[in-house]
Amino acid sequence: MVSEKLRKARDFEDQYSPFVPEEERPAFHVTGGIGWINDPNGFSVYKGEYHLFFQYHPYRPIWGPMHWGHVKTRDFIRWERLPVALAPDQPYDKDGCFSGSAIELEDGRQLLMYTGVRAERQEDGTLKNYQTQCIAIGDGINYEKYEGNPVLTAADLPKGGSDIDFRDPKIWKEEDGFWAVAGNRPSDGSGSILLFHSEDGLHWQYKGRVASCHCQYGKMWECPDFFPLDGMDVLLVSPQEMMPTGLEFHAGNGTVCIIGKANEKKHLIRENVQAIDYGIDFYAPQTLLAQDGRRIMIAWMQNWDTARSQLMTTRLVGQMTVPRELSIRDGRLIQQPVRELENYRGPRIAYRNVPLSTETHLMGIRGRIIDLTVNVRPANGNLMYRWFKLHLAKDGEYETTIRFKPDSGIVRVDRTRGGFPFDIVNMREFPVYSKNGSIKLRCILDKKSLELFVNDGEQAASFVLHTPLSADVISFEADGEVLIDVEKYDLFFDAGEDEFSDTAQ
Ligand code: FRU
Repeated sequence: MVSEKLRKARDFEDQYSPFVPEEERPAFHVTGGIGWINDPNGFSVYKGEYHLFFQYHPYRPIWGPMHWGHVKTRDFIRWERLPVALAPDQPYDKDGCFSGSAIELEDGRQLLMYTGVRAERQEDGTLKNYQTQCIAIGDGINYEKYEGNPVLTAADLPKGGSDIDFRDPKIWKEEDGFWAVAGNRPSDGSGSILLFHSEDGLHWQYKGRVASCHCQYGKMWECPDFFPLDGMDVLLVSPQEMMPTGLEFHAGNGTVCIIGKANEKKHLIRENVQAIDYGIDFYAPQTLLAQDGRRIMIAWMQNWDTARSQLMTTRLVGQMTVPRELSIRDGRLIQQPVRELENYRGPRIAYRNVPLSTETHLMGIRGRIIDLTVNVRPANGNLMYRWFKLHLAKDGEYETTIRFKPDSGIVRVDRTRGGFPFDIVNMREFPVYSKNGSIKLRCILDKKSLELFVNDGEQAASFVLHTPLSADVISFEADGEVLIDVEKYDLFFDAGEDEFSDTAQ
């Protein structure tokens, strides 16, 4: 049954999304039809296609009572919009259907597991948001909320666990049934990731902790994901209230990848801890196991602190990252844009061994919907250059720069002149591994975003830009003697074609 609240959201999206200006809509990154989105939810395979849901408030370009928006794809690049999937229309989720995940059931139905939020006024006048885990089951378009909801409540929490911060279940299946992890705030006020088991996906039991924060990496851990990768076990979490640690983690809402080995109780023994993305705009990543065995991650390409600094004339706020293939190399998480993106490349424009000193422009190298790779190395192996700089999304007024200094091994991305008329964070620095001053920078630009992949995915850094699309100049500059190779493709997405023509791999 489609509730009145859900019908209203669907109608609103249908009626008003055509008015969103083309300039605001990314060419191939997922957004809502209109309004606000945050976390990816339910990123999963269903009936041979990839579904993605997301935290959605269609009515205004700011966060509000959370619905689940819905899209699907066959190749992670071209997405088909589906009707809004969930609205906060039940007593146990009346204040929001928060983040969660999805899985295909053996009987062909799709199960959504999400956090239901119910706010209650306290005696002292404050509001408390009680969070429980809930289920909805459907056919890939319409979902019925389970009559036994909520399926996990305060009664299922370990001693000291808070039911104010108990959210974001991620479900998966093993031979012995369904498993799920969810974030929770234990009595030390930080975060821990709880593990649950179910035989049928409806009745759940607490099984222990996968990992705990102990106030080391931020506080409450949101949006966990837990999966095997290249012989290791990986836990992704999005901590609130992070403190910076050198250039590894920054303050605010960060993301953390813990790589290790899970014991027989699925408790993760840590071997390496790192940031997931080193840019400004990245949070709440979620992964799926693709049908060909690839582990693919997508994230909200935004940041809670800067997302609120939006012009109120904006009709769309929030977009997802490009889906990324994950692997582990030398104990670290490697991320590469999905290979399907290459199917959308236009003609190749390439230069080799270009010597640099003053700011240099290369014919045909410009654009805002592009896949650009630059290889940088010293022109004279014995003489190290001082810095290399790539200018993007540039005109007389605007630019975003990527600078690399080989002596410190630090990349700095600076969007101070990227168009945000607010006093927000605009610069990020992070260390990279550079051999003899060489570095490879791959930049994916899609209108108002930049995703940078360094050295074949050793580091990824995501940024929203606010730059008018007419600023499309790209130039190269160095202090010292540098040689570069440049390869650029414009990316094309034929609007006229059937969304689901033969683009699948
Ligand atoms: C993370 C988050 C989740 C929550 C959702 C609410 O960005 O805070 O923990 O489920 O957003 O929209």
